[in-house]
Amino acid sequence: MSTFQLNGKTVTVEAPPDTPLLWALRDNFGMTGTKFGCGAALCGACTVHMDGVATLSCVMPIGAIIGRSITTIEGLSGRVGQQVQRSWDKFQVPQCGYCQSGQVMAAASLLSRIPEPTDADIDDAMQGNLCRCGTYPRIRIAIHDAARKLKVAK
Ligand code: FES
Ligand code: FES
Repeated sequence: MSTFQLNGKTVTVEAPPDTPLLWALRDNFGMTGTKFGCGAALCGACTVHMDGVATLSCVMPIGAIIGRSITTIEGLSGRVGQQVQRSWDKFQVPQCGYCQSGQVMAAASLLSRIPEPTDADIDDAMQGNLCRCGTYPRIRIAIHDAARKLKVAK
């Protein structure tokens, strides 16, 4: 049994401690916004936030998140999270969309750490989030746009 915060609410999962968080999110809580891509920490589709930091839920056992705060795409809010989603919308970043919740979560985590990221910062932070549709140029444009908007709105 693991108790943690999920999108601001205290929740408990009754499952073996080595159950991946991604399984719990999708099967126990019906939160299907977080995607299964590889299941092996290779693609980033399953990215969520743990205590605000981008985390791969496919390799995060629920026994390791007791007492931690998990945010999924369904619960992404706040100034940074909302602006990232607005910029994604403005530049119509998604193509098939499968990787995009992970991309948005990774981008929001990046902008929370580095408010004005360089291209190199973006490459570094987003390198684990693969996109088979090749939306990388729009992802970069949207992250720079979000950074500009957040700076202006300070
Ligand atoms: S599904 Fe987690 S990194 Fe691919
Ligand atoms: S938008 Fe299709 S995989 Fe990224």
